[in-house]
Amino acid sequence: MMNRLHALFHRPERGWDPVPCEYAREYAERVWQQFDYQLLDAVERWTDGFAGKEILDLGAGPGQFAVAFAQRGALVTWYDVSRNYLCIAQQKAKEAGVDITFVLGYMDEAPRLLHKQFDLVFNRVCFYYGWNDFLFAKVIYQLIRPGGYACIEANNSTFGWDRLSLTARFRTWLNATLGIKIGHPHPPRGRIPAAFLRYPIKQMLVEYPEPHLDRIFVQKADQAS
Ligand SMILES: C[S@@+](CC[C@H](N)C(=O)[O-])C[C@H]1O[C@@H](n2cnc3c(N)ncnc32)[C@H](O)[C@@H]1O
Repeated sequence: MMNRLHALFHRPERGWDPVPCEYAREYAERVWQQFDYQLLDAVERWTDGFAGKEILDLGAGPGQFAVAFAQRGALVTWYDVSRNYLCIAQQKAKEAGVDITFVLGYMDEAPRLLHKQFDLVFNRVCFYYGWNDFLFAKVIYQLIRPGGYACIEANNSTFGWDRLSLTARFRTWLNATLGIKIGHPHPPRGRIPAAFLRYPIKQMLVEYPEPHLDRIFVQKADQAS
């Protein structure tokens, strides 16, 4: 509710950008340099290859995965709320010589803005920017084609706990216990799988690569819409 209201008055199409230019530049440099090939390979194995698949990189930031998917033969849509990241990702795609579709918008508005479903929805370290954990899982589910996949890598609510202010801890608790989300608290471990289990799925794999990091692979049921 609070996050939805905020979005009503802060519109990317009117020039609003939550990510300052300098921060975007520094983050981009870091993640492009330390690219996670292990994750890329794991997703490719899980989805039975990228070639010819339509992939949505939801919350794609500087585009390192979007470009990698395209280099492996996928038809990629980059989607993010930040124009600063859009510029960086466009430049990276140009340098790599790949064609990518770029769409600026809030992740929660993606079904309305994109009007289509994908073979794979990829969502890395930005699940917590969804307006509500359960509703955002529904958004991702809607964007997957029947029989298609989602891969979500997300920090859980233990992430950076020691550094959180009292208010941030309270907001994390509020989200974890009552599902009331103010700002962007990380979801409690287990919430994302639980959210997807509300819908028809074919299979799900949950990995905990680190104590604060959860990785969820979901395949949507063939008959689901
Ligand atoms: C930590 S970065 C992750 C970027 C990329 N997925 C990666 O793996 O490096 C979080 C991203 O979420 C985007 N973001 C934050 N809130 C968003 C929202 N409500 N809708 C769309 N994108 C959002 C930011 O612009 C940023 O690109």
